[in-house]
Amino acid sequence: MQSITELIRSRRAFFPKNYSDKEIPRLLIEEILENANWAPTHKRTEPWRYRVFHSLESRQRLSDYILADFKANTPADLYSEAKVNDVALRPLQAGCVFAIVMQRDPAQSLPEWEEIASVAMSVQNIWLSCTALHIGSYWATPGFISRLGPILELGEGEKCIGLFYMGNLKVVARAPAQRGKIEEKVRWM
Ligand SMILES: Cc1cc2nc3c(=O)[nH]c(=O)nc-3n(C[C@H](O)[C@H](O)[C@H](O)COP(=O)(O)O)c2cc1C
Repeated sequence: MQSITELIRSRRAFFPKNYSDKEIPRLLIEEILENANWAPTHKRTEPWRYRVFHSLESRQRLSDYILADFKANTPADLYSEAKVNDVALRPLQAGCVFAIVMQRDPAQSLPEWEEIASVAMSVQNIWLSCTALHIGSYWATPGFISRLGPILELGEGEKCIGLFYMGNLKVVARAPAQRGKIEEKVRWM
């Protein structure tokens, strides 16, 4: 119990600007993905899908796509070169990026929210695995994820629900996270 409690409570969101250049070996990524595959799943639909951007070439392609999308879809009053470059730089600052994809069961035997819940549990497996491996990571849900279809080659029933950035950290320590009291969120019946 001690180790699972420590792991859960030390998990943090770490952003790409805090990642070092040190590579994440493919074997570690495969181990993380294997853990992702052990999430709970109603009716065994196993709805989690991942597109992996690991090579520099693939991360450059993602960065270029985000840059072009941002330029094409950001209203003039919200547009700034600094913001665009900041967002598009993230795949290059990261050691690896997963596109988090939900595959809707073709028979639609479950409500969509159950499939999304299952994918989120898979992402938590990834996030905790990264924590255990001292890999910084976070789940990002910018507006443009709804326009990533072409680069992710999304198929029938697939929907992107975020990008998961990962990287070795420049500085590992971070202040503990803050949460409101659990007592205020629980009613014993
Ligand atoms: C579904 C989901 C979507 C998120 N989207 C974003 C996001 O778009 N941008 C961002 O900065 N953080 C995002 N986060 C990460 C949160 O910022 C982070 O988890 C929160 O600040 C709490 O910090 P902690 O994870 O270090 O405890 C997301 C987290 C979840 C679970």
